[in-house]
Amino acid sequence: MKIAIGNDHTAVELKRHIQTYVEGMGHEVVNFGTDKSDSADYPVYAKKVAQAVASGEFDRGILICGTGIGISIAANKVKGIRCALCSEPCSAALTRKHNNANIIAFGARIVGQVLAESIVEAFLNTEFEGGRHQRRIDLITDIENEQ
Ligand code: RB5
Repeated sequence: MKIAIGNDHTAVELKRHIQTYVEGMGHEVVNFGTDKSDSADYPVYAKKVAQAVASGEFDRGILICGTGIGISIAANKVKGIRCALCSEPCSAALTRKHNNANIIAFGARIVGQVLAESIVEAFLNTEFEGGRHQRRIDLITDIENEQ
């Protein structure tokens, strides 16, 4: 798959680790995040990754800030994005099965490298179940279209 990754200044090291990990899984990864330790604004990177995924150019996205909260909130403002904040792999698998999440977010100040790997592995290797879950996603899309 083609994966867009983005991060703010709190997550440069974890982003690099996860980029290498995902490339090792055989995916193509494009880095939209910062590589500097200077304070940076997470909505900037959330927008880049979310638009890259929403455009259809990328299959999935990975976003990392300090907590994962701000960057996930920002990503979910982009139409067509279902960004799930997950701090463990069970939620990452379920958000693929039930929500067809197209971006995963987590916090570099919350999860370590090994836990982040398992979150990303679950996110990339779990398929959407469809069925009743598609109906609920369609209702989310209806809300988006009403705005
Ligand atoms: C930056 O200090 C921090 O606020 C940011 O990385 C993120 O945690 C926001 O939700």
